[in-house]
Amino acid sequence: MIEISVDLGPNSYPIAIGHGLVSSLPRLLAPLAGRRTVVVSSPHVWALHGSRVEKSLQRLGPFTRVLVPDGERNKNRRSLNAIQDAFVKAGLGRDGLVVAFGGGVVGDLTGFAAATYMRGVIWVQIPTTLLAMVDSSVGGKTGINHPRAKNLIGAFHQPKAVIADCAFLETLPARQLRSGAYEALKCGVIADRGLFQAMRKAPAGLRGWSRTDVENAVASACEVKVGIVEKDEREDGLRRVLNLGHTLGHALESVTAYRRFTHGEAVGWGLVGAAWIARRRGLLPDEAFDLVAATVDHLGPRPRVSDIRSQAILDAVGRDKKVKNGRLTFVLPLSIGRVAVHDDIGRGEVRDALKVMTSREARLT
Ligand SMILES: NC(=O)c1ccc[n+]([C@@H]2O[C@H](COP(=O)([O-])OP(=O)(O)OC[C@H]3O[C@@H](n4cnc5c(N)ncnc54)[C@H](O)[C@@H]3O)[C@@H](O)[C@H]2O)c1
Ligand SMILES: [Zn+2]
Repeated sequence: MIEISVDLGPNSYPIAIGHGLVSSLPRLLAPLAGRRTVVVSSPHVWALHGSRVEKSLQRLGPFTRVLVPDGERNKNRRSLNAIQDAFVKAGLGRDGLVVAFGGGVVGDLTGFAAATYMRGVIWVQIPTTLLAMVDSSVGGKTGINHPRAKNLIGAFHQPKAVIADCAFLETLPARQLRSGAYEALKCGVIADRGLFQAMRKAPAGLRGWSRTDVENAVASACEVKVGIVEKDEREDGLRRVLNLGHTLGHALESVTAYRRFTHGEAVGWGLVGAAWIARRRGLLPDEAFDLVAATVDHLGPRPRVSDIRSQAILDAVGRDKKVKNGRLTFVLPLSIGRVAVHDDIGRGEVRDALKVMTSREARLT
């Protein structure tokens, strides 16, 4: 088992990473034993893995369970109500415990439900997707979507522990596995050459990725995110670097109504675009651009971008919150392992990046 500690003063907590950790829940969560507990999951995740969690949690004390449908469109008030209704029904008090067991959608919903119920009850995350293990379960951001915008309603609420049991990834569809892998690669480009190289050396399309390599990648990506969150818990500045690949990524997701790309696939394209803008400005050496783009491609195929109008993508980038005096803000890689935030990116540069992304599509088939 690999353990990483997130040092945030009174909000500190450990992240445990390994295979089969769920059977050790009574030991890992011993300090929280005896609390009235509600577990939140989705019907799909519970059907696949609920019995293992159930057996282990029973040894910690009595608990009740609530299932909410996952999928981005269910990260809404209705699911939040269902979860908090279950808290009330279970008689959960301020001394209770909430456990989120699922992907990033269940995690964000459950964390927000815990943050706002009785002004905050403690919670623990047991992520079951790679994206949730490397990204959403770390850092304490919780929330739900508003019909007009993603993640508009939220709170910072750090969990008391994160238990990343990579055995759950064995049932994860390949596309979802890759989605998380693009985020791990992003962490490598931001601050960890070793992680970048590990992703470069992973089997193409991640078929047959070994247990140890998965655990190490999860741990390294968490370490990058933890290092940044520890310095900037509430995203006042530095934490923005975690948005590498997300300016274009979010735009691609929004112009395709969140139907075409997984989040990670859109971020994969966004990484290529950001790296191109950096290369065009002479900030990133040519070989480093080639390596970033080739490694994104190596992780697997992504849905096409060539049939999306560039103007629509530019409009979507412009609608994002990162616009200053008509110029756009991008996180740009300066080398593999180092990035900087630039807030003077012109639309022409983005158009050029979109052309390069389109021209690379042929390599993916
Ligand atoms: N809080 C943060 O800092 C943060 C960071 C990044 C992303 N997010 C959020 O995370 C969400 C995306 O998370 P996600 O990619 O995990 O999506 P998700 O929770 O929708 O899960 C993806 C799919 O995988 C299925 N699934 C989950 N675990 C499985 C398993 N072990 N085996 C088989 N299938 C399984 C789910 O049923 C679902 O269909 C978004 O809402 C995003 O906004 C939050
Ligand atoms: Zn992301």
